[in-house]
Amino acid sequence: MHIHDTALIYPNVRYGNSIIVEPFAILGIQDRFHPESELVIGERAFVGSRCTVYAGVQVGDDFDISDQSTVFYDNIFGNACRIGPKAMIKNGCRLGNHVRINAGVFLERVIIGSNVFIGPGTTFTDDKHAPCPHYADCVPKSEVGDFVSIGANVVIAPGIKIGHHCQVYAGSVVTKDVEPFSVMAGNPAKKIKKFNELKCSAGIYQKPFEWWDSQ
Ligand SMILES: CC(C)(COP(=O)(O)OP(=O)(O)OC[C@H]1O[C@@H](n2cnc3c(N)ncnc32)[C@H](O)[C@@H]1OP(=O)(O)O)[C@@H](O)C(=O)NCCC(=O)NCCS
Repeated sequence: MHIHDTALIYPNVRYGNSIIVEPFAILGIQDRFHPESELVIGERAFVGSRCTVYAGVQVGDDFDISDQSTVFYDNIFGNACRIGPKAMIKNGCRLGNHVRINAGVFLERVIIGSNVFIGPGTTFTDDKHAPCPHYADCVPKSEVGDFVSIGANVVIAPGIKIGHHCQVYAGSVVTKDVEPFSVMAGNPAKKIKKFNELKCSAGIYQKPFEWWDSQ
């Protein structure tokens, strides 16, 4: 266990063994509307410098959050979730196991399965006509199934459901629900092939994403 002297850990934080907390991280700060809540972190967590994880968050084992990322109130993550630097996880997200959120991602009110990759700069929107006072009553949470890879700088429209075993290519704008086993590209994103038609051009794997089969 190593907690840097400059890290600020509030008394409402419970964490497992072997946690590492880097300089100026803040754990357990309370949302002003939810003063009772605690922060629970599993075993072997790594918390990078200047990260903020609010109270009202629960994360599993092997959590890894890089420098300057923020996780707000009301988020629940499974095991082995990794958050890249400068990511912004706002309220109401649920992540399964082995979810990788890259640098600069924005998430709010998104339910994500297990074995999911979200590329740098990707944004999940959740308000059709921002800033609508009733946005949360208007659109349901967005959903991403298991075994999904979303590329860099993708924009997902509010309330979209992406089925399991899908890839979304870089820079796409997803405006409609995506059926399982789809590969999507473009703006607006269209299905360009089936997931099982993807090829590993370098020939290293028989098919891309087969590394997920062993998890
Ligand atoms: C890398 C990548 C662009 C490769 O594309 P590719 O090798 O051309 O892929 P495909 O052969 O499946 O392309 C099929 C078609 O879709 C087009 N296409 C590929 N990527 C596209 C994209 N991002 N947007 C729009 N169209 C795209 C191709 O030009 C091709 O069109 P064509 O048939 O008219 O020539 C694509 O796989 C991708 O975006 N991967 C995700 C990369 C990423 O963001 N990684 C995140 C971690 S850094």
